[in-house]
Amino acid sequence: MKSFTSTILLLAGLTTANPITQSQPRQTTPSPYQISTFYASRTHNSYSCNYEFTLTSSTLPTPITCSARGLDSGFTGSPWLASVYPGTGNCNDTRVTWEFYQPKRFDGETPADFYVTIDGVKGKYVIPKEDFTLTPNGPSPFDDDFYYSGPQEFEVVDFDF
Ligand SMILES: *[C@@H]1O[C@H](CO)[C@@H](O)[C@H](O)[C@H]1NC(C)=O
Repeated sequence: MKSFTSTILLLAGLTTANPITQSQPRQTTPSPYQISTFYASRTHNSYSCNYEFTLTSSTLPTPITCSARGLDSGFTGSPWLASVYPGTGNCNDTRVTWEFYQPKRFDGETPADFYVTIDGVKGKYVIPKEDFTLTPNGPSPFDDDFYYSGPQEFEVVDFDF
């Protein structure tokens, strides 16, 4: 009888303890989204922009490949890359979406905002203006090339913006 009672007391203790131990910690910061083989470029003598990168994350079982092809920057010498709106870029996993926005400035000195979303958790990486190269190919600015020339690998760690 004594052991039966102590079992009851023990169970009662566990029951009351549960709500406390199960209370959620404050919002946790997601682990970094790792980007590799990042490519973004406007085709020579074209307004057509292409993008490609590989994404790895502790929340994804395999590396994911993302890309966008043939997006229109507006004109053949644009010192910016075309915007990639939600649903425009592709990834080989529907849990992942991404976006890219570079303001249209003619001096080519423009940072871009790059966003990657996994399962609705959106991360932001600001690509510095130094990571883009504007290359003249002659007297006409319509011949200029413009492309991403920064590191192929970087991490998206900003989830609070
Ligand atoms: C996506 O593509 C990468 C690279 O080709 C591959 O390793 C990965 O398994 C693919 N993931 C899915 C979900 O198909």
